[in-house]
Amino acid sequence: MGEEARRGTHAHGRSENASRTGGEGATVSPGGRAAAGDGSARWRRVGVVGLGTMGAGIAEVLAGSGLDVVGVERDTDALRRARGRIEHSLDRAARHGRLADAARGELLGRLSLGTELAAVSDCDLVIEAIDERLDAKTALFARLDEVCLPATVLATNTSSLSVTELAAGTGRSARVLGMHWFNPAPVMGLVEVVRTVVTDADALAAVVSLVGAVGKTAVVAADRAGFIVNALLFGYLNNAVRMVEARFATREDVDAAMRLGCGHPMGPLALLDLIGLDAAHAILASMYDQTRDHLHAPAPLLGQLVAAGLLGRKTGRGFYTYPATDAPDVPPEGPGRKDPGAVGEPGAVGEPGAVGESGAVGEPGGGGGAGTAAARTPGGPATPGEAGAVGGAAVRVRSVGIVGSGTMARGIAEVLARSGHDVILRARRPDAADAAHDRVAASLAAAVAKGRLSDDDRDAALGRLRVTTDLGELGGCDVLLEAVVEDLAVKRELFTDLDKVARPGAVLATTTSCLPVVECATATRRPEAVVGMHWFNPAQVMRLVEVVPTVLTGAGATATVTALARAAGRHPVQCADRAGFIVNALLFPYLNDAVKMLQANYATIEDIDTAMTVGCGHPMGPFALADVVGLDVTLAITRSLYEQFREPGYAPAPLLEHLVRARFLGRKTGRGFHAHAPR
Ligand SMILES: NC(=O)c1ccc[n+]([C@@H]2O[C@H](COP(=O)([O-])OP(=O)(O)OC[C@H]3O[C@@H](n4cnc5c(N)ncnc54)[C@H](O)[C@@H]3O)[C@@H](O)[C@H]2O)c1
Repeated sequence: MGEEARRGTHAHGRSENASRTGGEGATVSPGGRAAAGDGSARWRRVGVVGLGTMGAGIAEVLAGSGLDVVGVERDTDALRRARGRIEHSLDRAARHGRLADAARGELLGRLSLGTELAAVSDCDLVIEAIDERLDAKTALFARLDEVCLPATVLATNTSSLSVTELAAGTGRSARVLGMHWFNPAPVMGLVEVVRTVVTDADALAAVVSLVGAVGKTAVVAADRAGFIVNALLFGYLNNAVRMVEARFATREDVDAAMRLGCGHPMGPLALLDLIGLDAAHAILASMYDQTRDHLHAPAPLLGQLVAAGLLGRKTGRGFYTYPATDAPDVPPEGPGRKDPGAVGEPGAVGEPGAVGESGAVGEPGGGGGAGTAAARTPGGPATPGEAGAVGGAAVRVRSVGIVGSGTMARGIAEVLARSGHDVILRARRPDAADAAHDRVAASLAAAVAKGRLSDDDRDAALGRLRVTTDLGELGGCDVLLEAVVEDLAVKRELFTDLDKVARPGAVLATTTSCLPVVECATATRRPEAVVGMHWFNPAQVMRLVEVVPTVLTGAGATATVTALARAAGRHPVQCADRAGFIVNALLFPYLNDAVKMLQANYATIEDIDTAMTVGCGHPMGPFALADVVGLDVTLAITRSLYEQFREPGYAPAPLLEHLVRARFLGRKTGRGFHAHAPR
């Protein structure tokens, strides 16, 4: 790892801004006035040009922090809309008790709005937030350069254009930088401050200080397409669009998978609708221009939606359909959603029986994707008699046999026993079987101690759990679920054995996270009964289950494990049998991209983690997460994605391989990207 990358040269936390950038203690005083004993004190009057979605929010934040703000729009109509936007936002803050009447009056008193650009001439800083068009921005910067005092610093809120190019078009390139805010500006805590190769260090430090003074966190990034957040986020978002485009999974299932599997506040498609599909398309196109990485080339579906004027929430329809334009609500992703209208929706285009198709949304009671699994086998509607006992609807599951005694096997056994299923857990050795039983008992006891489970329910759950070393004892179970080591030869051999002992009509399921489910299916004489059921760790906590039918799986088998997941209080999503399923296929390329960004010395571990947590609301940054997952596991999954998809962009980052070779595996070895206290 390069020293530069480790040193942490940039500010990344409010408390650290001052010390790491030369500023000292920029604070917001109790009265709300930005007061600082450092660079940020030089900002008294700030101009904001373009008061659309972003500019209006930025002006509100600055005026709310005690700065005098001069807002400029291009004409009176646009100015009227801008006033409405600000009023609306302040109303909302007041409704939520975040803004008192007096403070609102003061804030509005500090805000002067007009249509004359000359009004910003004596500002210390001018932030440009007009449309994302290079020609428009270049012309505006040329005019600002003319009308503003020589000392005025000019900042652009561009998401994807070259700050360097904008700076070069002025006579003050050292005092031009990027200030990339996040939407909605009053709510989101991050601002990426973008320096070019000629940016003046004092101007940069003072802008970073200002960001801290208005209550946001700054990370400093060099001028590269997408900076930190978008460069990592948009590859992931594009990937999600391609999944829907390829009918690999439904939009609802992709979104639910990332919310429940990764704790993201929004799924990628709902997020794209919020960002605006036109903006997303422009950002990806600009990233592609710079990187020439096929993974950044906007997915054709995105371009089609934009061409059709379906731009997301702002037009009332994008991947989802909203009750109104600019609707504040996230579309429901749960059952009951019937929305056959959205373009690009799997199943919306009539093409029955496409292999890999994940089915239609909006079927009766559907929307949860996997909920209607019975009606949609990946291989198309089953020919009568084709799938035998598992060819129809869900079979009610009373008993489950679990093979394995590791973390997943025990966690799943506990969840299923607690939800009223008879469970037989089979380990290879008697001591392992007993230990598994004791671990489940201890976990149930811990739930009782935390007040999450009654004594009676614990006793009932334990009463439903049996352990054995004899695979034959699983023969009578309705579902036989394998959770042994992630090794294809071992799993195939086990499936051959399960096929021998399982009763006719039983469903055989695998918990594999990376291996092809179909390889397990072909090790049996009943491939129609074999399906993937991918749980997440810890199973007791994580609500997501990916249900993975192969091209050979019967509809009944898919429906049965889907219903079983629901009965166990889990949220099933369905996808085709492709490496990484939904979550890992979206998550690991993103983690790998973060490692590549680090490897290129573009930003530090801390800045990247901060940018993704503060800027996107992710529960963990990519490096903190890789350390939890394990760098060896991260590498193995990244390799398996690369081997299956042959995408050059999925090739594991050399730095990741290097760290694994050095046994920097993350929390488990005390050191990964971060150092960890020994456990
Ligand atoms: N929307 C986002 O999520 C987001 C996030 C971060 C950054 N950005 C960037 O912020 C900038 C603005 O984006 P937005 O979403 O607010 O766009 P927007 O279309 O909502 O607002 C642009 C505003 O600029 C005004 N305008 C255009 N030309 C002008 C001129 N010459 N003088 C004064 N006003 C002018 C328009 O009337 C409009 O109100 C873009 O560069 C965008 O890439 C957007």
